[in-house]
Amino acid sequence: MRPKILTAGSINMDLMMYNVEKIPRLGESAYCRDYEYASGGKASNQALALARMGAVSFLAGRVGNDRNGRQLVEQLEKAGVDTRYVIVDADHSTGLSTMNVNKRGEYFSVLAPGANNYIRTEDIKKALSENRFDMVVLQLEMPLETVYQTYEIAKAQGIPVFLDAGPAMSIPLKRFSGIFAISPNEAETEALTGIAPDSEKHIQEAAEWLYQAVAPEYVILKLGRRGALLYDGSHMSLIEAYPVEAVDSTAAGDTFGAAFAVQYCQGAKMDDAVRFANAAAAVCVTRKGGYPSIPCRDEAEEFYGRVRCQDRECITK
Ligand code: RIB
Repeated sequence: MRPKILTAGSINMDLMMYNVEKIPRLGESAYCRDYEYASGGKASNQALALARMGAVSFLAGRVGNDRNGRQLVEQLEKAGVDTRYVIVDADHSTGLSTMNVNKRGEYFSVLAPGANNYIRTEDIKKALSENRFDMVVLQLEMPLETVYQTYEIAKAQGIPVFLDAGPAMSIPLKRFSGIFAISPNEAETEALTGIAPDSEKHIQEAAEWLYQAVAPEYVILKLGRRGALLYDGSHMSLIEAYPVEAVDSTAAGDTFGAAFAVQYCQGAKMDDAVRFANAAAAVCVTRKGGYPSIPCRDEAEEFYGRVRCQDRECITK
Protein backbone atom coordinates (compact mmCIF):
# COMPACT_ATOMS: atom_id res chain seq x y z
CA MET A 1 0.00 0.00 0.00
CA ARG A 2 1.36 3.43 -0.94
CA PRO A 3 0.34 5.86 1.80
CA LYS A 4 -1.03 9.21 0.67
CA ILE A 5 0.75 11.94 2.62
CA LEU A 6 0.40 15.72 2.55
CA THR A 7 3.35 17.91 3.48
CA ALA A 8 2.65 21.60 3.99
CA GLY A 9 5.26 24.32 4.41
CA SER A 10 8.46 25.75 3.03
CA ILE A 11 10.08 25.54 -0.37
CA ASN A 12 13.55 27.15 -0.59
CA MET A 13 16.48 27.48 -2.88
CA ASP A 14 19.57 26.74 -0.77
CA LEU A 15 22.88 28.46 -1.31
CA MET A 16 25.25 25.81 0.02
CA MET A 17 28.59 27.09 1.38
CA TYR A 18 30.89 24.15 2.05
CA ASN A 19 33.82 23.88 4.46
CA VAL A 20 32.98 27.11 6.23
CA GLU A 21 35.95 27.63 8.51
CA LYS A 22 34.16 29.29 11.46
CA ILE A 23 31.06 31.19 12.52
CA PRO A 24 32.10 34.84 12.08
CA ARG A 25 31.58 37.47 14.75
CA LEU A 26 29.93 40.79 13.85
CA GLY A 27 32.21 42.73 11.51
CA GLU A 28 34.15 39.60 10.54
CA SER A 29 34.03 37.48 7.39
CA ALA A 30 34.48 33.74 7.23
CA TYR A 31 35.72 31.85 4.19
CA CYS A 32 34.35 28.70 2.68
CA ARG A 33 35.98 26.43 0.12
CA ASP A 34 33.21 26.05 -2.46
CA TYR A 35 29.55 26.76 -2.98
CA GLU A 36 26.62 25.68 -5.10
CA TYR A 37 22.88 26.14 -5.34
CA ALA A 38 20.75 23.15 -4.35
CA SER A 39 17.00 22.81 -4.05
CA GLY A 40 15.73 22.53 -0.50
CA GLY A 41 13.30 23.86 2.10
CA LYS A 42 12.10 21.67 4.93
CA ALA A 43 8.67 20.88 3.50
CA SER A 44 9.83 20.36 -0.05
CA ASN A 45 12.71 18.16 1.13
CA GLN A 46 10.17 16.13 3.08
CA ALA A 47 7.71 15.89 0.19
CA LEU A 48 10.51 14.79 -2.12
CA ALA A 49 11.79 12.28 0.43
CA LEU A 50 8.26 10.92 0.85
CA ALA A 51 7.99 10.40 -2.91
CA ARG A 52 11.42 8.73 -3.01
CA MET A 53 10.37 6.49 -0.12
CA GLY A 54 7.30 5.33 -2.06
CA ALA A 55 4.46 7.51 -0.74
CA VAL A 56 1.88 9.27 -2.87
CA SER A 57 3.29 12.63 -1.92
CA PHE A 58 1.42 15.95 -2.10
CA LEU A 59 2.99 19.31 -1.24
CA ALA A 60 1.15 22.52 -0.29
CA GLY A 61 3.14 25.74 -0.14
CA ARG A 62 4.18 28.86 -2.06
CA VAL A 63 6.94 29.87 -4.41
CA GLY A 64 7.56 33.22 -6.08
CA ASN A 65 7.05 33.88 -9.76
CA ASP A 66 10.79 33.51 -10.39
CA ARG A 67 13.45 31.18 -11.73
CA ASN A 68 14.13 29.53 -8.36
CA GLY A 69 10.45 28.80 -7.87
CA ARG A 70 10.09 27.28 -11.32
CA GLN A 71 13.20 25.13 -10.88
CA LEU A 72 12.10 23.85 -7.48
CA VAL A 73 8.62 22.90 -8.67
CA GLU A 74 10.01 21.25 -11.79
CA GLN A 75 12.37 19.10 -9.72
CA LEU A 76 9.62 18.14 -7.30
CA GLU A 77 7.40 17.07 -10.16
CA LYS A 78 10.20 15.06 -11.73
CA ALA A 79 10.61 13.25 -8.42
CA GLY A 80 6.90 12.39 -8.47
CA VAL A 81 5.59 14.97 -5.98
CA ASP A 82 2.09 16.26 -6.71
CA THR A 83 2.47 20.05 -6.68
CA ARG A 84 -1.08 21.07 -7.58
CA TYR A 85 -1.36 22.81 -4.17
CA VAL A 86 1.84 24.83 -4.59
CA ILE A 87 0.76 28.41 -5.27
CA VAL A 88 2.82 30.82 -7.36
CA ASP A 89 2.80 34.02 -5.31
CA ALA A 90 3.18 37.00 -7.63
CA ASP A 91 4.09 39.40 -4.81
CA HIS A 92 6.90 37.56 -3.03
CA SER A 93 10.12 35.80 -3.99
CA THR A 94 10.83 32.14 -3.50
CA GLY A 95 12.43 31.40 -0.12
CA LEU A 96 16.21 31.38 0.00
CA SER A 97 18.44 29.81 2.63
CA THR A 98 22.19 30.14 2.96
CA MET A 99 23.41 26.87 4.38
CA ASN A 100 26.85 27.26 5.96
CA VAL A 101 28.31 23.79 6.34
CA ASN A 102 31.50 23.11 8.32
CA LYS A 103 34.05 20.33 7.86
CA ARG A 104 32.08 17.98 10.10
CA GLY A 105 28.98 18.36 7.94
CA GLU A 106 27.12 20.49 10.52
CA TYR A 107 25.47 23.70 9.41
CA PHE A 108 23.98 26.98 10.48
CA SER A 109 21.67 28.76 8.08
CA VAL A 110 20.30 32.20 7.39
CA LEU A 111 16.84 32.04 5.90
CA ALA A 112 14.88 34.56 3.82
CA PRO A 113 11.40 32.98 3.91
CA GLY A 114 9.91 35.06 1.06
CA ALA A 115 6.70 33.46 -0.19
CA ASN A 116 6.78 30.85 2.61
CA ASN A 117 5.77 33.60 5.02
CA TYR A 118 2.51 34.05 3.15
CA ILE A 119 1.24 30.46 3.21
CA ARG A 120 -2.31 30.67 4.55
CA THR A 121 -4.49 28.00 6.07
CA GLU A 122 -6.84 28.38 3.10
CA ASP A 123 -4.06 27.23 0.75
CA ILE A 124 -3.74 23.96 2.65
CA LYS A 125 -7.42 23.52 3.51
CA LYS A 126 -8.14 22.98 -0.16
CA ALA A 127 -5.78 19.98 -0.25
CA LEU A 128 -7.34 18.58 2.92
CA SER A 129 -10.90 18.97 1.65
CA GLU A 130 -10.22 17.40 -1.76
CA ASN A 131 -8.29 14.33 -0.57
CA ARG A 132 -8.18 11.77 2.18
CA PHE A 133 -4.61 11.62 3.52
CA ASP A 134 -3.06 8.93 5.69
CA MET A 135 -0.78 11.47 7.37
CA VAL A 136 0.05 15.18 7.36
CA VAL A 137 3.65 16.32 7.82
CA LEU A 138 4.32 19.85 9.11
CA GLN A 139 7.28 21.95 10.22
CA LEU A 140 7.64 25.51 11.49
CA GLU A 141 8.90 27.29 8.35
CA MET A 142 5.57 28.98 7.61
CA PRO A 143 3.37 31.29 9.71
CA LEU A 144 2.78 29.65 13.07
CA GLU A 145 -0.94 30.34 12.93
CA THR A 146 -1.09 28.38 9.65
CA VAL A 147 0.72 25.47 11.31
CA TYR A 148 -1.66 25.46 14.28
CA GLN A 149 -4.78 25.71 12.11
CA THR A 150 -3.60 23.01 9.70
CA TYR A 151 -3.05 20.73 12.66
CA GLU A 152 -6.53 21.51 13.98
CA ILE A 153 -8.19 20.75 10.62
CA ALA A 154 -6.24 17.51 10.15
CA LYS A 155 -7.03 16.46 13.72
CA ALA A 156 -10.73 17.09 13.16
CA GLN A 157 -10.50 14.78 10.13
CA GLY A 158 -8.79 12.13 12.24
CA ILE A 159 -5.50 12.34 10.30
CA PRO A 160 -2.28 11.74 12.26
CA VAL A 161 0.06 14.74 12.12
CA PHE A 162 3.84 14.46 12.30
CA LEU A 163 5.40 17.76 13.37
CA ASP A 164 9.06 18.20 12.52
CA ALA A 165 9.66 21.00 15.03
CA GLY A 166 12.25 22.91 13.01
CA PRO A 167 13.75 25.41 12.67
CA ALA A 168 14.74 25.99 16.30
CA MET A 169 12.35 28.36 18.06
CA SER A 170 10.55 28.76 21.32
CA ILE A 171 6.80 28.64 20.69
CA PRO A 172 3.62 28.00 22.66
CA LEU A 173 2.88 24.28 22.34
CA LYS A 174 -0.61 24.03 23.81
CA ARG A 175 -2.37 24.09 20.45
CA PHE A 176 -0.47 20.97 19.36
CA SER A 177 -2.05 19.10 22.21
CA GLY A 178 -2.80 15.47 21.27
CA ILE A 179 -0.68 15.49 18.10
CA PHE A 180 0.54 12.14 16.77
CA ALA A 181 4.27 12.95 16.93
CA ILE A 182 6.48 15.91 17.69
CA SER A 183 10.05 15.53 16.48
CA PRO A 184 12.69 18.19 17.15
CA ASN A 185 16.43 17.86 16.57
CA GLU A 186 18.94 18.74 19.29
CA ALA A 187 18.93 22.53 18.77
CA GLU A 188 15.14 22.54 18.38
CA THR A 189 14.73 20.47 21.54
CA GLU A 190 16.75 23.02 23.49
CA ALA A 191 14.80 25.94 22.00
CA LEU A 192 11.45 24.34 22.85
CA THR A 193 12.24 22.95 26.29
CA GLY A 194 15.15 25.05 27.57
CA ILE A 195 17.01 21.76 28.19
CA ALA A 196 20.11 21.02 26.11
CA PRO A 197 19.99 17.29 25.30
CA ASP A 198 23.70 16.86 26.03
CA SER A 199 23.58 13.87 28.39
CA GLU A 200 21.34 10.86 28.92
CA LYS A 201 19.73 12.57 31.89
CA HIS A 202 19.02 15.77 29.95
CA ILE A 203 17.69 13.85 26.95
CA GLN A 204 15.21 12.07 29.21
CA GLU A 205 14.25 15.30 30.94
CA ALA A 206 13.68 17.07 27.63
CA ALA A 207 11.53 14.20 26.31
CA GLU A 208 9.46 14.20 29.50
CA TRP A 209 9.12 17.98 29.38
CA LEU A 210 7.83 17.84 25.80
CA TYR A 211 5.49 14.99 26.58
CA GLN A 212 3.99 16.96 29.48
CA ALA A 213 3.68 20.14 27.39
CA VAL A 214 2.14 18.60 24.26
CA ALA A 215 0.57 15.30 25.36
CA PRO A 216 1.40 13.76 21.96
CA GLU A 217 1.22 10.08 21.19
CA TYR A 218 4.97 10.12 20.66
CA VAL A 219 7.96 12.35 21.24
CA ILE A 220 10.74 11.52 18.79
CA LEU A 221 13.98 13.40 19.51
CA LYS A 222 16.49 13.43 16.66
CA LEU A 223 19.88 13.32 18.33
CA GLY A 224 22.27 13.38 15.37
CA ARG A 225 25.18 10.97 15.80
CA ARG A 226 23.52 9.49 18.92
CA GLY A 227 20.40 8.38 17.05
CA ALA A 228 16.81 9.06 18.09
CA LEU A 229 14.84 8.85 21.31
CA LEU A 230 11.32 7.49 21.16
CA TYR A 231 8.99 8.21 24.08
CA ASP A 232 5.32 7.31 24.41
CA GLY A 233 4.77 8.60 27.94
CA SER A 234 5.69 5.33 29.58
CA HIS A 235 8.55 3.80 27.56
CA MET A 236 11.68 5.55 26.42
CA SER A 237 14.05 3.92 23.95
CA LEU A 238 17.21 5.31 22.48
CA ILE A 239 17.54 3.96 18.97
CA GLU A 240 21.14 4.27 17.88
CA ALA A 241 22.30 5.98 14.72
CA TYR A 242 24.40 4.15 12.14
CA PRO A 243 27.92 5.55 12.05
CA VAL A 244 28.86 7.02 8.67
CA GLU A 245 31.25 9.68 7.44
CA ALA A 246 29.06 12.79 7.41
CA VAL A 247 29.73 15.48 4.81
CA ASP A 248 26.52 17.52 5.11
CA SER A 249 23.56 17.11 7.47
CA THR A 250 21.22 19.26 5.32
CA ALA A 251 17.88 17.45 4.85
CA ALA A 252 18.87 14.59 7.18
CA GLY A 253 16.05 15.46 9.58
CA ASP A 254 13.64 15.84 6.66
CA THR A 255 14.66 12.44 5.31
CA PHE A 256 14.29 10.92 8.78
CA GLY A 257 10.72 12.24 9.12
CA ALA A 258 9.68 11.09 5.66
CA ALA A 259 11.20 7.62 6.02
CA PHE A 260 9.56 7.25 9.41
CA ALA A 261 6.16 8.42 8.10
CA VAL A 262 6.09 5.97 5.20
CA GLN A 263 7.16 3.03 7.36
CA TYR A 264 4.62 3.89 10.04
CA CYS A 265 1.78 4.27 7.53
CA GLN A 266 2.72 0.92 6.05
CA GLY A 267 2.26 -0.75 9.43
CA ALA A 268 5.81 -0.90 10.82
CA LYS A 269 6.21 -0.93 14.60
CA MET A 270 7.27 2.45 15.97
CA ASP A 271 10.80 1.45 16.92
CA ASP A 272 11.36 -0.30 13.58
CA ALA A 273 10.10 2.78 11.73
CA VAL A 274 12.56 4.93 13.71
CA ARG A 275 15.38 2.45 13.04
CA PHE A 276 14.72 2.61 9.30
CA ALA A 277 14.49 6.42 9.50
CA ASN A 278 17.93 6.47 11.16
CA ALA A 279 19.28 4.43 8.25
CA ALA A 280 17.75 6.73 5.61
CA ALA A 281 19.15 9.80 7.43
CA ALA A 282 22.58 8.14 7.62
CA VAL A 283 22.63 7.76 3.84
CA CYS A 284 21.54 11.38 3.45
CA VAL A 285 24.41 12.83 5.54
CA THR A 286 27.01 11.13 3.36
CA ARG A 287 25.95 13.37 0.44
CA LYS A 288 25.76 17.09 -0.14
CA GLY A 289 22.74 19.36 -0.49
CA GLY A 290 18.98 19.18 0.08
CA TYR A 291 17.17 17.28 -2.74
CA PRO A 292 20.39 15.73 -4.12
CA SER A 293 21.23 14.02 -0.84
CA ILE A 294 17.87 12.35 -0.20
CA PRO A 295 17.99 8.59 -0.82
CA CYS A 296 15.30 6.63 -2.56
CA ARG A 297 13.76 3.68 -0.78
CA ASP A 298 15.94 1.04 -2.46
CA GLU A 299 19.12 2.83 -1.39
CA ALA A 300 17.86 3.22 2.19
CA GLU A 301 16.76 -0.41 2.29
CA GLU A 302 20.06 -1.63 0.89
CA PHE A 303 21.99 0.34 3.55
CA TYR A 304 19.57 -0.75 6.28
CA GLY A 305 19.92 -4.39 5.27
CA ARG A 306 23.69 -4.11 5.42
CA VAL A 307 23.88 -2.37 8.80
CA ARG A 308 21.20 -4.58 10.34
CA CYS A 309 23.22 -7.57 9.24
CA GLN A 310 26.28 -6.12 10.99
CA ASP A 311 24.12 -5.47 14.09
CA ARG A 312 23.12 -9.11 14.14
CA GLU A 313 26.72 -10.23 13.79
CA CYS A 314 27.57 -8.10 16.82
CA ILE A 315 24.70 -9.55 18.80
CA THR A 316 25.70 -13.14 18.06
CA LYS A 317 29.37 -12.58 18.91
O1 RIB B 1 16.03 21.05 6.73
C1 RIB B 1 16.94 21.57 5.80
C2 RIB B 1 16.35 22.77 5.12
O2 RIB B 1 16.17 23.80 6.07
C3 RIB B 1 17.21 23.35 4.04
O3 RIB B 1 17.01 22.74 2.78
C4 RIB B 1 16.90 24.82 4.08
O4 RIB B 1 16.15 25.28 3.01
C5 RIB B 1 16.19 25.05 5.41
O5 RIB B 1 14.91 25.39 5.24
